[in-house]
This record gives sequence, C-alpha cells and structure tokens, in this order.
Amino acid sequence: MNVFILFCLIFSPIHGLDLTPIVNLTTGPIQGKVIEYESIGVYQFLGIPYAKPPVDILRLQLPVKPDPWTEVKSVTDFGPACLQPHIMPDIQITSEDCLYLNVHVTESTFNNSSEKLRPVLFWIHGGGFTIGSGVIEGIPLVPLHDVIIVSINYRLNAFGFIHFGADEPRIPSNIGFQDQLFALKWVHENIRKFGGDPNSVTIAGSSAGSVSVSAHLLSPLSKGLFKRAILESGTVFMDHNIDVLIRDSWKLYNKTSCSKSPNVLECMQNLSATEILNSLDNKIIEFSFQVGDEFLPYEPSKAFAEGLFDNSVDVLLGVEKNDASMFMMAIDPIVFNYLIPPKPISYQEATNYLKRFFDSESADYFRELYFGPETNNSDFRSHLEKAYSDLLFICPAYVFGLEYASSLGLVDYGTESRISNWIGTPHGAEAPYVFGYPLMKPGYSQKDISLSREMMKIWTAFAENGEIPMVGETRWKPFQEKMSAMILNIDDWGKTETERIEFCHKEWAYISKHYINIPLYIPGFGPNVAAKNTNFRTQP
Ligand SMILES: *[C@@H]1O[C@H](CO)[C@@H](O)[C@H](O)[C@H]1NC(C)=O
Ligand SMILES: *[C@@H]1O[C@H](CO)[C@@H](O)[C@H](O)[C@H]1NC(C)=O
Ligand SMILES: *[C@@H]1O[C@H](CO)[C@@H](O)[C@H](O)[C@H]1NC(C)=O
Ligand SMILES: *[C@@H]1O[C@H](CO)[C@@H](O)[C@H](O)[C@H]1NC(C)=O
Ligand SMILES: *[C@@H]1O[C@H](CO)[C@@H](O)[C@H](O)[C@H]1NC(C)=O
Ligand SMILES: *[C@@H]1O[C@H](CO)[C@@H](O)[C@H](O)[C@H]1NC(C)=O
Repeated sequence: MNVFILFCLIFSPIHGLDLTPIVNLTTGPIQGKVIEYESIGVYQFLGIPYAKPPVDILRLQLPVKPDPWTEVKSVTDFGPACLQPHIMPDIQITSEDCLYLNVHVTESTFNNSSEKLRPVLFWIHGGGFTIGSGVIEGIPLVPLHDVIIVSINYRLNAFGFIHFGADEPRIPSNIGFQDQLFALKWVHENIRKFGGDPNSVTIAGSSAGSVSVSAHLLSPLSKGLFKRAILESGTVFMDHNIDVLIRDSWKLYNKTSCSKSPNVLECMQNLSATEILNSLDNKIIEFSFQVGDEFLPYEPSKAFAEGLFDNSVDVLLGVEKNDASMFMMAIDPIVFNYLIPPKPISYQEATNYLKRFFDSESADYFRELYFGPETNNSDFRSHLEKAYSDLLFICPAYVFGLEYASSLGLVDYGTESRISNWIGTPHGAEAPYVFGYPLMKPGYSQKDISLSREMMKIWTAFAENGEIPMVGETRWKPFQEKMSAMILNIDDWGKTETERIEFCHKEWAYISKHYINIPLYIPGFGPNVAAKNTNFRTQP
C-alpha cells in the first residue's frame, strides 16, 4: 500500500540529459537517458508504451499491441499514471492512456547485451488495485547489483477491475492482471535488446502487487513467462467475493448517466473518464480481481488441493511484523489512529473490538487464543494488532508458502521498526529497503543502510540464482526443508522464526472461516483524510 509513497523520490541525474543509444523495439525505435550512480552509468528508458492506449473502444477491453512507430520515441520521462480517485502528491500526471513501462539497466550490461544477459526484476506496484504507479528509481539497486528492473503501470479501480458478470460478458474480468501479463510478454519479447535475460525473470511486488504476483503464480496464462517470484505482504487469499464485485460494479453503473442504457459496454465506453472516476464512491472502492476466468480459473484452495499450478517457480515471500497495524483504523478510526497518542484498552473494550473482525460464534475462541485469561492489565492493543495482522496478511502469506511448497520456498519475516509507537513495522515497510532508499535519502541511520544493503543482496541473489546468500551467520534453508522464516530486523538479522508459522498452520483454517471482512483505509492518505472519509475502503 505504501509502496508508491515510499518510492516516489525524484533523484536528479548527476549530469544533464545524456541520451542512450537508440533501441529498436519490435514496435519502433526508442531512446532513453543516462544517469550515474557512483560513477556507474545507468540507462533509463521511461514511459515505453507496451499496449495501445486503452481508451474509446479499447476501454474495459483486454490490452492490444501498440501501433508501430518510425520516428525515434524519446522515453526519458515516466508515462502518466493510470486514473485513480486519490492522487498521491508524488504523481505528476494521470491519464486513461497509461499503459507504460520503465526499464532500468546498467550501461555495461546494455553494452554487453550480445555477450551476456542479466536477470530481470519485474516490479508490480501496490495500492489496493486502486491507486499507485510504476514510478521507481532504479538507483541504487540496479548499479549496485547489476540487475535490470522493469516497472509497470496497469489499469486500476473500475478501469482495471470492474466486472458486470454474465449480464455484460463483453467486459472481461481481471483486466488489470491482463495488463500485467501483457507487460510480461513484452519483457519476454524485448528485454534481450537491453541485456536482460528473458529466461531469468523474477516477478516481484508489494501489497496488491504481491497479490498480483501470487495470481500469476496460479495463472495458466502466465506460465513460463517468469522463473521466480517475490511476494511482499499479499496473496490471492485476499478476500475476493465475486457477488460483491458484481454488485459494486452495477452500483457504479447506476450512478453514471448510463444507468438507463441497456448497452453497458458501449455506453461505458462513451462516458468521459472523469464521470467514471467521479462515480467511484469512496464507500465502494473494492474493485479487485475475481476467480473463475481464463486468467484465474480456480479458487486458490482448489488450485493447491489439486495441484493445478506451476510449482517449478522459486518463491521468496514474506510479511511485516505488524502488517495490519496501519489498517486498524478500520476497527476504530480514533482509537487506532496512529497519530493520536495511544490510550490503554481494557479487556472488555478489546473483546468488543475483536468482535468487529471475528464473528460472534468464534469470539470466545479468539479471545482465549489472543488474550489468554481475563486481566485488565495486558497490552490489548498489541494483542489485537497481532490478531488483525494474522488475519489480513501474516497467516495468508505463510499458508500460501506452505501450500506452494515449490522447488524452493523461502520466507522472509519482518523488517525493523523505525516508527517508535505501537504501529511497529507496518505494511509496506520493506519496500524502501529492497530498493536501497536508505542509501540515497537523508534521515536514515547506519543500521538502516546496513539492513538495506543486506536486503538488496538477498533479493538480487534470489533473482539471479534462486538462492539466498548467508544472512549474518545463518544459512537460510528452503521452507520445505525447515519450516522457518528469516527475521530481518534492523538490529539483528539472521534469527529465524517458526512459532508464528506453526500458529498459522494450525489456526488458519478456523480463522479464515470466521473473520468478518471490514472496510479498510488507505493509510497513505493520512488519518485526517481517512477519518473524514470513514467509509473509504480498499483492500491492500
Ligand atoms: C535500428 O534501426 C535503424 C533503422 O533501421 C538502424 O539504422 C540501426 O542500426 C538499428 N539499431 C540497432 C541497435 O539495431
Ligand atoms: C558502452 O558503449 C558506449 C558506446 O559504444 C561507450 O562509449 C561506453 O564507454 C561503453 N560503456 C561501458 C561501461 O562499457
Ligand atoms: C563486456 O564484454 C566484453 C567482451 O565480452 C568484456 O571484455 C567486458 O569485460 C565486458 N564488460 C563488462 C562491464 O561486463
Ligand atoms: C441498478 O439499477 C437497476 C435498475 O434500476 C436495479 O435493478 C439494480 O438493483 C441496481 N443495482 C444496484 C447494485 O444498485
Ligand atoms: C455512443 O456514442 C455514439 C457516438 O456518439 C452514439 O452513436 C451511440 O449511440 C452511443 N452508444 C450508447 C450505447 O450510448
Ligand atoms: C476489569 O475491569 C472491569 C471493569 O472495571 C471489571 O468489571 C473486571 O472485574 C476487571 N477484571 C479483572 C480481571 O480485573
């Protein structure tokens, strides 16, 4: 969820606009720009169109190849982000014409592309399928580890995920996922020209990007397009109720001037994009993926039970220690507002909060499980946070790892805690470390820098060969060999965790049957916005 916020750092190129050599894509020639990091040249090709603008008769349709061009296209700036209801300050431009991707590669790899190819990290941004963009800076990760990063935009919210069910079969489901797939195919066809190895692609994402990665792991259409996958806080176990999606889609339709038109597709394509955007009622932003189409034919549980997925992919997956802490404002917007100094919560109050997200039938069970015997002097805030984090992120991720059990299942766990209060290490905290943000930006400690260096090393080694280097003194064992997760903590890394995995293994079946899906906030909007829009909902 915070990925976008965390990544939108504009680093100025060290010297003006040096241009790269021209690259002849199958669609036409492009020319990017050169930047430098510690005397290492990095080529950036930003805003490459990978599909035709999805406008007019292509709105709400699957992506198609762009029209070829002959003039050299300058790709020195990020393309517009896809349309979104709440524009984070860092996004400069949004447009319905948004199917662009970005390639970051070192000069030496680019120069040597005919000699040797390098691994590719394909980054899918988060933002609850509602907001965000593929704007990331390739430095310092690209120059330090000589990997190629491709980051993409994909259609969001109603533009990417609206679905009317059988009453309008001409509007396909999972359009946003299909955009991602289309971009993956682009990588397969074109990345060699940049020095990237199409047979060594690692798809990676945080939050909704991670949900997307797990969907590609299960999709027959994505099979063979990537070799490895990195999931950071998010899986397809995320709530995806088709009836709710269809109902919300019609609800949006009814709010537009199309409401009386029987021709849903054509009328939606005739609307102004602004009208669609304005019809995204804060209360119903929950357009996300659905199961049961060509892209995702099976429920994850069925896919796992019957082995209907490609288990040859190496997987690195993980969660934050306090993954749902920022989302607890959904339970009570005041009590769990992270800008308000926390007040103690009594046993009785805690019990009532627990009943907001577990059904009444199971409340006693979970109270016992998370709180233990009655006392008024326990840290109920953290007990509740643990329960909520287990429910939304931690157990789904571990269970996904357990189920996937591929050739190499690896799990990371937690990062550090920079926020000193009960929020701990929240959702999205890992992303800036993975991209080396602490090395670039003031305000980080030496410990942050060290952890970031360690994480960049782990992530890129995994992308390179599917293995993990020594972490501190510890050799990190594949999950199926040892059911443990690596803890990456700012003060100390190299410890492993088994307890919470066993806990999730044991409790998830019951948890998943008894939780109540309550609306979530987007924490990046800040508590003021969220508190005003108490009905604003999204899914990470
Ligand atoms: C790209 O195409 C142009 C025109 O056909 C050609 O002159 C140029 O050599 C090509 N460049 C590369 C790198 O293949
Ligand atoms: C890459 O090639 C360009 C043009 O041929 C050359 O000027 C540059 O020095 C090369 N860079 C590296 C790192 O090999
Ligand atoms: C590029 O390739 C050439 C020829 O194979 C090799 O001599 C040179 O060391 C390579 N440069 C880099 C930076 O890998
Ligand atoms: C949309 O409008 C139609 C026709 O007025 C109505 O039957 C339907 O229930 C409405 N759907 C929703 C979800 O509001
Ligand atoms: C869409 O717009 C076209 C051109 O203005 C018009 O002919 C057509 O009737 C419209 N279709 C619907 C379903 O509104
Ligand atoms: C906790 O506080 C409530 C309300 O003050 C009281 O009724 C209850 O007995 C207390 N429980 C314990 C274990 O102290």
